[in-house]
Amino acid sequence: MRLNVKTIYALCRRFDHCSQHRFNLRYLSTVELSEQQKNKLESGTVKRQALKKLLDGPQLKDFITKPQYELASEDVPYLDNTNFGHHRKVYFDVHGCQMNVNDTEIVWSILKSHNYLKTDDLEDADIVLVMTCAIREGAETKIWNKLENLKGLRNKKIEKNIKPRMKIGILGCMAERLKEKILEKERTVDIIAGPDSYKDLPRLLAVTENDQIAINVLLSLDETYADIMPVRLNENAVTAFVSIMRGCDNMCTYCIVPFTRGRERSRPVSSIIDELQYLSDQGVKEITLLGQNLKDLRWLNLPVYKTKLGGLRFADLLEKVADVNPEIRIRFTSPHPKDFPDEVLQLIQEKPNICQSLHLPAQSGNSNVLERMRRGYTREAYLELVEHVRQILPNVAISSDFICGFCGETEEEFQDTLSLIEAVKYNTAYLFPYSMREKTTAHRRYQDDVPQYIKQRRLDRMIHLYRGIVKSLNRQKIGQLQLVLVEGYSKRSKLHLAGRNDANIKVIFPIGEIPVQDDSSSCRSIEPGDYIVVQINDSTSQCVGTVSGSG
Ligand code: 5AD
Ligand code: SF4
Repeated sequence: MRLNVKTIYALCRRFDHCSQHRFNLRYLSTVELSEQQKNKLESGTVKRQALKKLLDGPQLKDFITKPQYELASEDVPYLDNTNFGHHRKVYFDVHGCQMNVNDTEIVWSILKSHNYLKTDDLEDADIVLVMTCAIREGAETKIWNKLENLKGLRNKKIEKNIKPRMKIGILGCMAERLKEKILEKERTVDIIAGPDSYKDLPRLLAVTENDQIAINVLLSLDETYADIMPVRLNENAVTAFVSIMRGCDNMCTYCIVPFTRGRERSRPVSSIIDELQYLSDQGVKEITLLGQNLKDLRWLNLPVYKTKLGGLRFADLLEKVADVNPEIRIRFTSPHPKDFPDEVLQLIQEKPNICQSLHLPAQSGNSNVLERMRRGYTREAYLELVEHVRQILPNVAISSDFICGFCGETEEEFQDTLSLIEAVKYNTAYLFPYSMREKTTAHRRYQDDVPQYIKQRRLDRMIHLYRGIVKSLNRQKIGQLQLVLVEGYSKRSKLHLAGRNDANIKVIFPIGEIPVQDDSSSCRSIEPGDYIVVQINDSTSQCVGTVSGSG
């Protein structure tokens, strides 16, 4: 028997409840009640008590699941997780690309505001969050091994009766890709959070308090974390990353990123500029803008799904970014070679604080392989682009990514990759053997038919060629003066400092002094964050070195 809606409204008004309660009561009409219950409810005191009980209980909104990207912790009244951290210590283990470093800084910002602490000592951690990479099988294997180690550490802590039980979380691309497998294979994992669900982490961590496994791997069309100011993992570093977009719609046939990170979306301009201003105020001297495909989007002041209308183009955004503080060096990665914007080249020429270094990921030097990869350009078009870039920016440093052993790659096709590396003479290259990924077009359409040992041999040949080229490019720098941003001590010696030149090449030089600004008669030690001019005296295939530095 259904309760009459009108009766409920009347009863509500008699108890002088607010419109929200009346609204909630409307849903009582769908509750099946027995005749006896109905009579009781409609009779005086019992009726009042019953209604009060209902009205004071959980409301309808408590049972409606909002989209995850809207679900802030304070929206869950029965789970007070706003203060849930209780100063528990989190250890971050970051794998993969620069985007993952930046995502970890977003996660740290969220957890810090919920009273968690960060520790750099794994043994001391209450929670270990592993930021994962899924791009190649090798990257995933490393993480499975890591989980084994963490399991051992947790068991040791349990044996020693250390409480609370250490929690282990898998974040990022692998979480998104392997949720079921992680659960089946890794019963040790407590939290699985994909790249778009970091705002949900306080709630997920709260759920694990009762030793339940908490998962959120929903991908979003508009999550850009625009409202979160990342907290840097190393707050003393003079360099920082700023994400300006998320996801990728390119669908290169070998690549898993569109499946793990979801659709392309740009971050609102105002939040990008605010973050830059904040980093500038903190004394950061170099910022790298991050995104999977920087050209194709428009940047607006609102969170948007991909749009080709209105808003700023990448070149306009870059100009705004460069103008925030001319003392800050700007880098960006990665534009796509299939439609590289000319305006960006003009802008680099005009603005001295935009580095003269470009990442132009070629992937292969053979047009057939590029077509199978669905890259959208040929070898010839790529070489034309490089020539055009060098006409406008003669001193530009070019870097690239290459994959060898892609499906069906013949020896002749691979030799085209070698000849492209030879022709362009990259200052930096990231070289990978192909690794077949589930879900990708290549997985559905092609055969991973280049044997592993041939992939490895081709990789060695690429590395050998590339190293030789870089060695000779770096040797040409000997005798030159280079502007270097000092980053800190060299890894090998406390008597040397390390920094990077405009082309992003590491420069090592002895500790020393520079004149104090506005008072050339006194000096001070060279510090991280200083720009200094050094003369290059020696070089290797990794870096250039000097025996003298000057301010
Ligand atoms: N196998 C090997 N390398 C890959 N990359 C992307 N997907 C794969 C894959 N399946 C490389 C590309 C890309 C870089 C980030 O990783 O070169 O530019
Ligand atoms: Fe970064 Fe790509 Fe690895 Fe994801 S899969 S962490 S986007 S490199």
